[in-house]
Amino acid sequence: MESKDTLILAIDSSCDETAAAVVRNGREVLSNVISSQIDLHTLFGGVVPELASRKHIEKINQVIARALADAGATLDDITAVAVTYGPGLVGALLVGVAEAKAIAWARKLPLIGVHHIEGHICANFIEHPELEPPFLCLVVSGGHTHLVMMKDYGKLDIIGRTRDDAAGEAFDKVARAIGLGYPGGPKIDRAAREGNPHAIEFPRAHIEGSPYDFSFSGLKSAVLNYLNHERMMGREVCQADVAASFQNAVVEVLVSHAVEAAAQYGVDQVVMAGGVAANSALREKLKSACASRGYRVYYPSPVFCTDNAAMIGVAAYYEYQKGARAGWDLNAVPNLKLGER
Ligand code: KG4
Ligand code: ZN
Repeated sequence: MESKDTLILAIDSSCDETAAAVVRNGREVLSNVISSQIDLHTLFGGVVPELASRKHIEKINQVIARALADAGATLDDITAVAVTYGPGLVGALLVGVAEAKAIAWARKLPLIGVHHIEGHICANFIEHPELEPPFLCLVVSGGHTHLVMMKDYGKLDIIGRTRDDAAGEAFDKVARAIGLGYPGGPKIDRAAREGNPHAIEFPRAHIEGSPYDFSFSGLKSAVLNYLNHERMMGREVCQADVAASFQNAVVEVLVSHAVEAAAQYGVDQVVMAGGVAANSALREKLKSACASRGYRVYYPSPVFCTDNAAMIGVAAYYEYQKGARAGWDLNAVPNLKLGER
């Protein structure tokens, strides 16, 4: 390692993945280790918070050791330790925060607290060296659906948000209702490829006076009502058609809001982030909507869309450059707001 390099050891344990990564100089991912708990939570049809916390404790030391080894680094090479401190499941977050504090304290290293959603957005810098703010970002994850203007590194304005369910949450709930199980997003994505997106007309919510806000609970209810109605009529439900029609309704609203916001805010770069950004129909639709308007479009590879620690290392680098340092009182903040420090 060059001694002038800034090497950040980053940790994320906000939900159901225990993740650690080493990132060099902000954009180069030297390692990215993710220990998924999907098999554990599948047994219960969704994430069980207490089990998630326990599993993080079991895995975190091994995951960090692997991240250092994969990067060909030791703690002696590390410049700073970064960790997600919110939003997320409190018990899960606490494991990462306590671990990061312990390492930073023992090794006398600076500690940097990162907002999980800022991390998701910064995942775009990993594979797109030319990408710089300002840009508009559609953040779509299991817990969040936001339209964010990133004016500069660390300078984020929320211009739209969901009023109820997050997009990923809607995917997960609908998947369960049509018998696809957990985790729902990737399963709907796959099932929808065999279905007709125009088979069933599901509603697209537009909120009066708030053109960039979202609402997915009405759509979720419409799917449930449709399923009940078909079952009562004794008709067989076509899983692939429901998946494709539901997905199409979500994707249309997400894409139209994003491109309209870009026009309104005068930016010609549209970026996507979060687990739902891995959705193949969403990627295609956003790409074509942006192409027809002359906007450049960016999204991370699927592995950097869903939870990972590399994205936390990237966000932390820009915080580190600005001089941001967390104190030893850094705590997990389960409902941390974007732009709050
Ligand atoms: O960003 P993420 O890994 O965790 C949170 O911060 O929430 O997002 C997880 C969400 C889940 O709701 C999952 O179903 C959804 O992302 N997801 C997808 C796809 N892959 C993951 N949704 C739609 N299509 C996908 N291919
Ligand atoms: Zn996430």
